[in-house]
Amino acid sequence: MPEKRPPEELNRAVILLGPPGAGKGTQAKKLAAKYSVPHLSTGDMLREHVALGTSLGVKAKPIMERGELVPDSLVLKIVAVRIERPDCSHGFVFDGFPRTVAQAQYLGELLKQHGFRRPFVIHLVIDTALILRRITGRRTCKTGGEIYNLYDFPPKVEGRCDSDGGELWQRPDDREEIVGPRLRAYEKQTAPLVAYYKRLGLLHEADASKSVEEVEEQIWKALHHARGKH
Ligand code: AP5
Repeated sequence: MPEKRPPEELNRAVILLGPPGAGKGTQAKKLAAKYSVPHLSTGDMLREHVALGTSLGVKAKPIMERGELVPDSLVLKIVAVRIERPDCSHGFVFDGFPRTVAQAQYLGELLKQHGFRRPFVIHLVIDTALILRRITGRRTCKTGGEIYNLYDFPPKVEGRCDSDGGELWQRPDDREEIVGPRLRAYEKQTAPLVAYYKRLGLLHEADASKSVEEVEEQIWKALHHARGKH
């Protein structure tokens, strides 16, 4: 495995692109921790708004429960505000953003305005057959956000997080009947970003069907290879 700490700062945005269950959150947490930069999950931000019952959360809740995408206008606002915070000054890792071409174009402008160079984009490529197992098996710690999988990475004690004993919960959109609509939304609205970033010469790929450690290593290698190139 590669060394635990990188010798240099990230100083850019990393975008993890891929369908639901590809492992974006799992890998984003690792990469953000390695570089000591924030992990920016628009899914987590929206779920927080839903839990707090903000007006944005009230609008987003039924849309998320149907497995559809929340309108760009709502998502762009929370991202723009978030990257203004000082902890983002040395870069950040996006998970679940951008998700439409309009979001990607907006992000491109936002990064320019903040003086960041072009983002590093990695597409997590995965067979649809694996997705259902990953999504329906996922459980997340309510307090620390650690991600488990009942089939592949079960907690030591059922329903409890190994790290802090927090309660593990299942996202409402992880029910089997919502997986189909989520995949269709991905194919229609997010998959075009693969061609979009390819055209810009920014796209890298990782085989996300491999183990967590192997995917981590592929991302790490691609990121190092990209350094200095763009
Ligand atoms: P979001 O929270 O972003 O969900 P998603 O994109 O559907 O992705 P997931 O979180 O389901 O999967 P993941 O790829 O992060 O996989 P994970 O690492 O957890 O979005 C939810 C909703 O919010 C959207 O449907 C939409 O409504 C709204 N939304 C969010 N962002 C938006 C935006 N920008 N615009 C509009 N709407 C937006 O892994 C999954 C499971 O697999 C886990 O159990 C994990 O342990 C396991 N696993 C991971 N990697 C591996 C591996 N290599 N081998 C074996 N198991 C693995």
